[in-house]
Amino acid sequence: MQHVIIGASGQVGGHLHRTLTRLGEDVTGTYYQHPEPSLIKLDITRRQDVHDFFDALKVHVVWIPAAMANVDQCQREPEGSYLHNVEAPRHVALSAAKRGARVVFFSTDYVFDGENGPYNEKAPVHPIQVYGQHKGEIEQYLLTEISHALIIRPAWIYSQDENPRNFVYRVVEQLKKKNPIKAVTDQWNTPTPGEGLVKMAWQAVQDGFEGILHIAGPERLTRYELTRRIARAFGYDVNLIEPVTTESFHLPAPRPLNGGLVTQYAPYRMEKGRDFTPLF
Ligand SMILES: NC(=O)c1ccc[n+]([C@@H]2O[C@H](COP(=O)([O-])OP(=O)(O)OC[C@H]3O[C@@H](n4cnc5c(N)ncnc54)[C@H](OP(=O)(O)O)[C@@H]3O)[C@@H](O)[C@H]2O)c1
Repeated sequence: MQHVIIGASGQVGGHLHRTLTRLGEDVTGTYYQHPEPSLIKLDITRRQDVHDFFDALKVHVVWIPAAMANVDQCQREPEGSYLHNVEAPRHVALSAAKRGARVVFFSTDYVFDGENGPYNEKAPVHPIQVYGQHKGEIEQYLLTEISHALIIRPAWIYSQDENPRNFVYRVVEQLKKKNPIKAVTDQWNTPTPGEGLVKMAWQAVQDGFEGILHIAGPERLTRYELTRRIARAFGYDVNLIEPVTTESFHLPAPRPLNGGLVTQYAPYRMEKGRDFTPLF
């Protein structure tokens, strides 16, 4: 099969690119501001460029992990968020679907308010910040306008990547320098290993799954507990992790507190060891 990954320079896109390539699939990936040798530059906010890009390719599956994924940036720049998180993916999805390709879009657990998580696919969305509102809006568009679209919602993605976009890497880099880290005790979520996420996503595509699918790790924990586990797993001093509340950070965008995702579809429930190698 021929795949296009829009945003293969990102955390999820990078995992997808490596995994599908390793499996022998034919993969074309794009980047926007972070060039990589094997990737093609594409800015999805430029409509003509998107048309030209798809005209030059034959494609069966178009993966869209591309996003403005910084929640606070979205809150500060709602117009930029709308452009990147609603208008641009809408255009990409439409262009892909017109050429007969299957569309796979990555959304987020932040479509929920975090009042009573964890949430399954049937839970009504109720976003509490700009990022979640825009993701919710594009989800609705894809569900109603793009035949056979698959919308995957992950939560708190992590990996072994040596990349500042990866939470584990950021934590380890601080601990190496013996820097204390403030971690919140009041945000609960289901951290999702990037490795398991893309394997399950590919499985869902092969299974012909359509609609919304939650793909998340099997455990629900606080950011504080997650950070402590990373410290322990990598042999650093857990006492460097300081428990704080979300409120103490005074962030622009509110966060879901009692959050996390579960799936009602048994084949896509992730298990340690079977679907991913535990890091902590
Ligand atoms: N990370 C998480 O914990 C998490 C949790 C839940 C949901 N999600 C969702 O999962 C998806 C992937 O997240 P991620 O962590 O992989 O994000 P990421 O690392 O920030 O990657 C975003 C990707 O989008 C590309 N991009 C941004 N603007 C673009 C534009 N105008 N044109 C083309 N490409 C553009 C970036 O390219 P460059 O880097 O080259 O600029 C990058 O490849 C997102 O939809 C995010 O909302 C993430």
